[in-house]
Amino acid sequence: MSADTSVLEQIERARVVPVVVVDDARDGLGVAAALRDGGLPVAEVTFRTAGAASAIEAIAREVPEVLVGAGTVITAAQVDEAVRAGARFLVSPGLSADVVRRAQEHGVPILPGVATPSDIIAALDLGLTAVKLFPANVVGGPAAVKAFSAPFPGVRFVPTGGVSAANLLDYLSLPSVLAAGGSWMVDRSLVRAGDWTEITRRTREAVELAASLSTVTEGA
Ligand code: 3PG
Repeated sequence: MSADTSVLEQIERARVVPVVVVDDARDGLGVAAALRDGGLPVAEVTFRTAGAASAIEAIAREVPEVLVGAGTVITAAQVDEAVRAGARFLVSPGLSADVVRRAQEHGVPILPGVATPSDIIAALDLGLTAVKLFPANVVGGPAAVKAFSAPFPGVRFVPTGGVSAANLLDYLSLPSVLAAGGSWMVDRSLVRAGDWTEITRRTREAVELAASLSTVTEGA
Protein backbone atom coordinates (compact mmCIF):
# COMPACT_ATOMS: atom_id res chain seq x y z
CA MET A 1 0.00 0.00 0.00
CA SER A 2 1.44 3.42 -0.83
CA ALA A 3 1.84 5.82 2.09
CA ASP A 4 -0.53 8.71 2.59
CA THR A 5 1.62 11.60 1.33
CA SER A 6 -0.92 14.18 2.45
CA VAL A 7 0.25 13.47 6.00
CA LEU A 8 3.80 14.51 5.08
CA GLU A 9 2.33 17.61 3.47
CA GLN A 10 0.59 18.41 6.75
CA ILE A 11 3.91 17.97 8.58
CA GLU A 12 5.59 20.26 6.06
CA ARG A 13 2.91 22.89 6.63
CA ALA A 14 3.33 22.59 10.40
CA ARG A 15 7.14 22.89 10.00
CA VAL A 16 7.70 21.63 13.54
CA VAL A 17 7.13 18.16 14.96
CA PRO A 18 6.83 18.20 18.76
CA VAL A 19 8.41 15.06 20.25
CA VAL A 20 6.25 14.06 23.21
CA VAL A 21 6.97 11.71 26.10
CA VAL A 22 3.88 11.03 28.23
CA ASP A 23 3.11 8.37 30.81
CA ASP A 24 -0.59 8.02 30.17
CA ALA A 25 -3.61 9.03 28.12
CA ARG A 26 -4.54 11.89 30.45
CA ASP A 27 -1.19 13.62 29.96
CA GLY A 28 -1.35 12.85 26.24
CA LEU A 29 -4.67 14.66 26.00
CA GLY A 30 -3.32 17.61 27.98
CA VAL A 31 -0.30 17.94 25.70
CA ALA A 32 -2.36 17.55 22.52
CA ALA A 33 -4.75 20.30 23.59
CA ALA A 34 -1.84 22.58 24.60
CA LEU A 35 -0.14 22.08 21.23
CA ARG A 36 -3.38 22.73 19.37
CA ASP A 37 -3.98 25.88 21.44
CA GLY A 38 -0.48 27.03 20.53
CA GLY A 39 -1.32 26.65 16.85
CA LEU A 40 0.61 23.44 16.20
CA PRO A 41 -1.79 20.54 15.74
CA VAL A 42 0.88 17.80 15.51
CA ALA A 43 2.24 15.40 18.14
CA GLU A 44 4.80 12.63 17.84
CA VAL A 45 4.14 10.47 20.89
CA THR A 46 7.22 8.37 21.56
CA PHE A 47 7.10 4.67 22.35
CA ARG A 48 9.31 5.19 25.37
CA THR A 49 6.65 4.71 27.99
CA ALA A 50 4.14 1.96 28.64
CA GLY A 51 1.36 4.52 28.18
CA ALA A 52 2.35 5.66 24.67
CA ALA A 53 -0.19 3.58 22.73
CA SER A 54 -3.07 4.54 25.01
CA ALA A 55 -2.06 8.21 24.73
CA ILE A 56 -2.08 7.95 20.92
CA GLU A 57 -5.46 6.25 21.02
CA ALA A 58 -6.93 8.92 23.29
CA ILE A 59 -5.58 11.79 21.17
CA ALA A 60 -6.83 10.20 17.93
CA ARG A 61 -10.28 9.77 19.46
CA GLU A 62 -10.71 12.93 21.52
CA VAL A 63 -8.52 15.55 19.81
CA PRO A 64 -8.89 14.52 16.15
CA GLU A 65 -7.78 17.94 14.92
CA VAL A 66 -4.27 17.02 16.09
CA LEU A 67 -2.24 14.91 13.68
CA VAL A 68 -0.92 12.22 15.99
CA GLY A 69 2.03 10.00 15.19
CA ALA A 70 4.24 7.55 17.01
CA GLY A 71 7.94 8.07 17.65
CA THR A 72 10.79 5.82 18.77
CA VAL A 73 9.24 3.00 16.73
CA ILE A 74 12.03 0.44 16.50
CA THR A 75 10.27 -2.89 15.84
CA ALA A 76 7.69 -4.12 13.33
CA ALA A 77 5.49 -5.10 16.29
CA GLN A 78 5.53 -1.48 17.47
CA VAL A 79 4.50 -0.38 13.96
CA ASP A 80 1.43 -2.62 14.28
CA GLU A 81 0.69 -1.35 17.77
CA ALA A 82 1.09 2.30 16.78
CA VAL A 83 -1.12 1.95 13.70
CA ARG A 84 -3.74 0.06 15.71
CA ALA A 85 -3.75 2.91 18.23
CA GLY A 86 -4.39 5.43 15.45
CA ALA A 87 -0.93 6.81 14.62
CA ARG A 88 -1.07 8.68 11.31
CA PHE A 89 2.72 8.76 10.89
CA LEU A 90 5.68 6.93 12.36
CA VAL A 91 9.15 8.09 13.33
CA SER A 92 12.16 5.98 14.21
CA PRO A 93 15.58 6.95 15.56
CA GLY A 94 17.26 4.68 13.00
CA LEU A 95 16.63 2.81 9.80
CA SER A 96 15.34 -0.77 9.92
CA ALA A 97 14.11 -2.25 6.65
CA ASP A 98 11.67 -4.45 8.60
CA VAL A 99 10.15 -1.45 10.33
CA VAL A 100 9.93 0.59 7.11
CA ARG A 101 8.36 -2.27 5.15
CA ARG A 102 5.78 -2.93 7.86
CA ALA A 103 4.83 0.76 7.85
CA GLN A 104 4.55 0.63 4.06
CA GLU A 105 2.29 -2.44 4.31
CA HIS A 106 -0.01 -0.35 6.49
CA GLY A 107 0.22 2.62 4.11
CA VAL A 108 1.38 4.85 6.96
CA PRO A 109 4.23 7.30 6.26
CA ILE A 110 7.43 6.67 8.18
CA LEU A 111 10.40 8.93 8.83
CA PRO A 112 13.30 6.64 9.73
CA GLY A 113 16.38 8.14 11.33
CA VAL A 114 19.51 8.61 9.24
CA ALA A 115 22.94 9.77 10.34
CA THR A 116 25.15 8.81 7.38
CA PRO A 117 25.07 8.79 3.55
CA SER A 118 24.78 4.97 3.69
CA ASP A 119 21.62 5.30 5.79
CA ILE A 120 20.21 7.71 3.21
CA ILE A 121 20.96 5.29 0.37
CA ALA A 122 19.23 2.52 2.33
CA ALA A 123 16.18 4.78 2.78
CA LEU A 124 16.12 5.58 -0.95
CA ASP A 125 16.34 1.82 -1.70
CA LEU A 126 13.18 1.40 0.37
CA GLY A 127 11.42 4.03 -1.73
CA LEU A 128 11.59 6.85 0.82
CA THR A 129 12.47 10.44 0.07
CA ALA A 130 11.83 11.96 3.51
CA VAL A 131 13.87 10.98 6.55
CA LYS A 132 14.60 12.12 10.08
CA LEU A 133 18.17 13.35 10.61
CA PHE A 134 19.12 12.10 14.06
CA PRO A 135 20.71 13.21 16.30
CA ALA A 136 20.90 16.36 14.22
CA ASN A 137 23.05 18.37 16.63
CA VAL A 138 25.58 15.56 17.00
CA VAL A 139 25.69 14.68 13.29
CA GLY A 140 26.72 18.27 12.50
CA GLY A 141 23.64 20.49 12.70
CA PRO A 142 22.56 22.63 9.72
CA ALA A 143 25.99 22.14 8.11
CA ALA A 144 25.34 18.39 8.00
CA VAL A 145 21.96 18.93 6.34
CA LYS A 146 23.65 21.04 3.67
CA ALA A 147 26.44 18.50 3.16
CA PHE A 148 23.97 15.59 2.87
CA SER A 149 21.79 17.55 0.45
CA ALA A 150 24.57 17.87 -2.14
CA PRO A 151 24.69 14.17 -3.14
CA PHE A 152 20.99 13.60 -2.33
CA PRO A 153 19.14 16.61 -3.80
CA GLY A 154 15.76 14.87 -3.77
CA VAL A 155 15.80 13.99 -0.08
CA ARG A 156 13.87 16.02 2.53
CA PHE A 157 15.11 16.00 6.11
CA VAL A 158 13.43 16.34 9.48
CA PRO A 159 16.37 17.25 11.74
CA THR A 160 15.72 16.22 15.32
CA GLY A 161 17.93 16.17 18.39
CA GLY A 162 19.11 19.38 20.03
CA VAL A 163 16.67 21.58 18.12
CA SER A 164 15.31 24.53 20.12
CA ALA A 165 13.85 28.00 19.62
CA ALA A 166 17.46 29.24 19.43
CA ASN A 167 18.43 27.23 16.34
CA LEU A 168 15.07 26.34 14.76
CA LEU A 169 15.39 28.87 11.96
CA ASP A 170 18.92 27.71 11.10
CA TYR A 171 17.31 24.41 10.11
CA LEU A 172 14.01 25.63 8.69
CA SER A 173 15.72 28.08 6.37
CA LEU A 174 17.32 25.21 4.46
CA PRO A 175 15.23 24.16 1.43
CA SER A 176 15.86 20.45 2.02
CA VAL A 177 14.36 20.68 5.50
CA LEU A 178 10.76 19.47 5.51
CA ALA A 179 10.24 20.23 9.20
CA ALA A 180 12.24 20.13 12.41
CA GLY A 181 11.47 17.88 15.36
CA GLY A 182 12.09 18.41 19.02
CA SER A 183 10.97 18.13 22.59
CA TRP A 184 11.74 21.64 23.80
CA MET A 185 8.12 22.79 23.71
CA VAL A 186 6.92 19.75 25.58
CA ASP A 187 9.71 19.30 28.10
CA ARG A 188 8.97 16.34 30.34
CA SER A 189 9.08 18.45 33.49
CA LEU A 190 6.31 20.66 32.05
CA VAL A 191 4.19 17.62 31.24
CA ARG A 192 4.71 16.15 34.72
CA ALA A 193 3.77 19.49 36.28
CA GLY A 194 0.72 19.78 34.00
CA ASP A 195 1.99 23.21 32.91
CA TRP A 196 -0.11 23.36 29.73
CA THR A 197 0.15 27.15 29.69
CA GLU A 198 3.93 27.06 29.29
CA ILE A 199 3.68 24.31 26.65
CA THR A 200 1.23 26.46 24.71
CA ARG A 201 3.49 29.50 25.10
CA ARG A 202 6.56 27.67 23.78
CA THR A 203 4.48 26.19 21.00
CA ARG A 204 3.18 29.57 19.93
CA GLU A 205 6.74 30.93 19.99
CA ALA A 206 7.88 28.11 17.66
CA VAL A 207 4.92 28.68 15.33
CA GLU A 208 5.64 32.41 15.17
CA LEU A 209 9.33 31.78 14.49
CA ALA A 210 8.50 29.42 11.63
CA ALA A 211 5.96 31.90 10.25
CA SER A 212 8.50 34.74 10.35
CA LEU A 213 10.63 32.74 7.97
CA SER A 214 7.88 32.19 5.41
CA THR A 215 7.10 35.92 5.50
CA VAL A 216 10.76 36.71 4.75
CA THR A 217 10.89 34.08 1.99
CA GLU A 218 7.66 35.29 0.41
CA GLY A 219 8.78 38.91 0.61
CA ALA A 220 12.22 38.17 -0.89
C1 3PG B 1 13.88 12.29 19.50
O1 3PG B 1 13.63 11.19 19.89
O2 3PG B 1 13.54 12.66 18.40
C2 3PG B 1 14.71 13.17 20.38
O3 3PG B 1 14.76 12.69 21.68
C3 3PG B 1 14.26 14.58 20.40
O4 3PG B 1 15.41 15.29 20.63
P1 3PG B 1 15.42 16.52 21.63
O5 3PG B 1 14.90 15.98 22.95
O6 3PG B 1 16.87 16.94 21.70
O7 3PG B 1 14.53 17.57 21.06
